[in-house]
Amino acid sequence: MASDYEKFADQIKRKTGIDLSLYKEAQMLRRLTSLYEKKGYQNFGEYYNAIENDPKLLHEFLDRMTINVSEFYRNGKRWEVLENKILPKLLEKNKTLKVWSAACSTGEEPYTIAMILSKLVPLQQISILATDIDDNVIARAKMGVYPERSLQEVPPDIKKRYFSTEGGFYKVSDEIKRTVTFKKQNLLADRFDSNFDLIVCRNVLIYFTEDAKDLLYKKFSAALKQDGIFFVGSTEQIFNPGSYGFETEDTFFYRKK
Ligand SMILES: C[S@@+](CC[C@H](N)C(=O)[O-])C[C@H]1O[C@@H](n2cnc3c(N)ncnc32)[C@H](O)[C@@H]1O
Repeated sequence: MASDYEKFADQIKRKTGIDLSLYKEAQMLRRLTSLYEKKGYQNFGEYYNAIENDPKLLHEFLDRMTINVSEFYRNGKRWEVLENKILPKLLEKNKTLKVWSAACSTGEEPYTIAMILSKLVPLQQISILATDIDDNVIARAKMGVYPERSLQEVPPDIKKRYFSTEGGFYKVSDEIKRTVTFKKQNLLADRFDSNFDLIVCRNVLIYFTEDAKDLLYKKFSAALKQDGIFFVGSTEQIFNPGSYGFETEDTFFYRKK
C-alpha cells in the first residue's frame, strides 16, 4: 500500500504537475510534516483535503517546498572566476552571449549576471533568460526590490551604480532589469531552450534525487553550445562530468565538449 506521503505526492502531481518523488524524500518529508503539523493537521491525507479547498494553503505548500533563499553575488569568489576567466573566454568567440539563470528565485542571480556582464559588454547587448517553478518568486524578481541583507556581497561600485534606495529597501535600476526576461518553468518537467553559451543553475540541484540530477545534467549539457559553460552551486560539484560531455573548466564550472 502506498504510504501517506506517496499518495500525497501523487495528488500534488496531478494537481500542479510537480513531481515530489524527484526531490530527496527525507528532507521534503521533514519540511512538509512540520508545515502541516503547525497548521493543525494530523497527516498528509487531511492536509491534502485542506489544500484542495483553500488556494492559500496550496500557495503556502509551494512556498515551503521550493526554498527560495538567494542573495546577490552569492559565494563571491565564484563570481570573480566568472568575471575574470569564464566570460572573457566566452566573449572571445561570441560578442553576444545567450545566458540562462535556471531556478533564479527572486532574481538576485540573473541580476548579478547582468551587473557582471555590464563590465565587459554594453548593456544593450545583454539578454538573460531567468526561470523558476514558483510564480511568487518570479513576481518578486520582476519588482526588483530587496532588503539590505540581500546585498551584503555586492561590490560598492556596483551598489552605487545599479541600485537606488527607498524606505530602507534597495531597488535594481531599470537598465539592469531590462536585460532579464523572467519565465515560469519546471526544470523537471518542461522542455529546455537550446544553444546557450552560459547556464547558471545553483542551489537547487541539491534538493533533487540522484536520478533527477542525472537527467538534468544530460538536459543541461544538450542545451549548451559546444564550449558553453555550466555553472553550479558551491555544494553541487559534478563527480563524473565526462559522462555528460563536460570537462571541468574551474571548480563548479563545466565546459561542454
Ligand atoms: C535556493 S533557491 C536558489 C536561487 C539561486 N539560484 C541562488 O543560487 O541563489 C532554489 C530555487 O529553485 C526553485 N525550484 C525548485 N524546484 C524547481 C523546479 N523543479 N524547477 C524550477 N525551479 C525549481 C525554487 O522555487 C527556488 O526559487
